[in-house]
Amino acid sequence: MDYKIRTKIRQIVIEEMVPLDTAVTILGLVRTARVGKEVAFVEVNDGSCMQNIQAVIAEPKEHPVVEKILTGASVRIRGKLILSQGKGQKYEIAVDTIDLIGAADDTYPLQKKRHSFEFLREIAHLRPRTNTFGAVNRIRSKLAYAIHKYFQERGFYYIHTPLISASDCEGAGDLFHVSAFDLKNIPLKDGEIDWDSDFFGTETYLAVSGQLEAELIATALGDVYTFGPTFRAENSNTSRHASEFWMIEPEMAWAEQEDNMDLAEDFVKFLFRYALEECSEEMDFFGQWIDKEVRQTLEGIVKADFERITYTEAIKVLQSSGEKFEYPVKWGLELQTEHERHLTEKTFQKPVIVYDYPEEIKAFYMRLNDDGKTVRAMDVLVPRVGEIIGGSQREERYDVLMERMKKKGVTNLDAYYWFLDIRRYGTMPHAGFGLGFDRALMYITGIANIRDVLPFPRVPRWAKF
Ligand code: 4AD
Repeated sequence: MDYKIRTKIRQIVIEEMVPLDTAVTILGLVRTARVGKEVAFVEVNDGSCMQNIQAVIAEPKEHPVVEKILTGASVRIRGKLILSQGKGQKYEIAVDTIDLIGAADDTYPLQKKRHSFEFLREIAHLRPRTNTFGAVNRIRSKLAYAIHKYFQERGFYYIHTPLISASDCEGAGDLFHVSAFDLKNIPLKDGEIDWDSDFFGTETYLAVSGQLEAELIATALGDVYTFGPTFRAENSNTSRHASEFWMIEPEMAWAEQEDNMDLAEDFVKFLFRYALEECSEEMDFFGQWIDKEVRQTLEGIVKADFERITYTEAIKVLQSSGEKFEYPVKWGLELQTEHERHLTEKTFQKPVIVYDYPEEIKAFYMRLNDDGKTVRAMDVLVPRVGEIIGGSQREERYDVLMERMKKKGVTNLDAYYWFLDIRRYGTMPHAGFGLGFDRALMYITGIANIRDVLPFPRVPRWAKF
């Protein structure tokens, strides 16, 4: 019965919807307990918001259980909501009864001191109970809602693309296999793995993107978006790469490069504005404990007109900057994070959309420009993080796409027949992009390592919990 009748702390301290002198039941975890002769204080958090509520026990001798209530225990508190006599909080609970539901002994590691993120990554039960991960998990939820709100209000349909895929969308080869083979006895045919005898009758992977399937449905529904997990087996142990991360991929039939850039810019600004306006409790916390400037940074982006320059112009700007870069700057080479950061932090001091990249360095599905050398790719770069969005106008011309796929070394063209068919029947211009949700969250929270915005990070050599 407790579940239905309890009051969430959020309803008291944030929404202020509970009248004074009301009898309330609070269910939560003890953050601190101080027991004196005359009075005892138990501070409780129930996860509904960052703030705790303090329960005041006037006659501790009449509640002997308080002696056993230590940090980390779960409790049920019944009492009356009153204005706090003490400083630091507006409300408190004058306790009638307090029950210990689940004890925690003094080996419980979350004491008052701060723990490092690295330490917390090792302790599954503790991590989500800290203020930082409470704030991270709550803001993830709020921003996931904001993403749906943004697209739904603009007439985009949310579609579900498969997590098991037979195609490599990005062509980068960083794929996790999905197989039902007995790994000790993998069937071979002519010395090669016999995928034909595997579960799906073909070689399959965890999807690196939902784009190819989104293109298919966009041609039918118009504007669509995906929002789901994607998997990459790149063995890059950096602070910005996760092996499992969440991506939002809108895809718009009839849209071209400029429409794509407009949507990307508007979407990023909406998301950051939403964080500033609708997630103030979390943003105040990140501003105080993680990055003092995080609010100003987001406000700057929301107000800025993103700079838009071609890749060719970007190369010229970097070459004439006088800066000594670790990686070479030359037309035809990838832009590295240091180059992207230079453009956003030094040259333009705001987000930059770089477009029309050399076709050699971009995926097969991007539309070839008339110059024959560049494709209609666009990346949105932001200060500090570099790329957070990658997208393109898609190649909608059947013959040109076939040529590019062959040139890019796609050997199993047959496996893409369904993707090619949308170019064969009623083709149309279309465009879309992918925003890495976890990278966006790093930006919004100021947290420097992608592992610490993920509730259960998956990175090379880490999948325990
Ligand atoms: O640039 P990417 O690889 O683009 C695509 O996957 C396209 N299919 C998107 C599309 O056009 N529909 O990835 C898109 C974004 C990147 O900009 C980055 O924010 C994020 O996904 N991302 C990663 N985030 C965390 N860890 C990784 N290993 C990531 N790889 C990409």
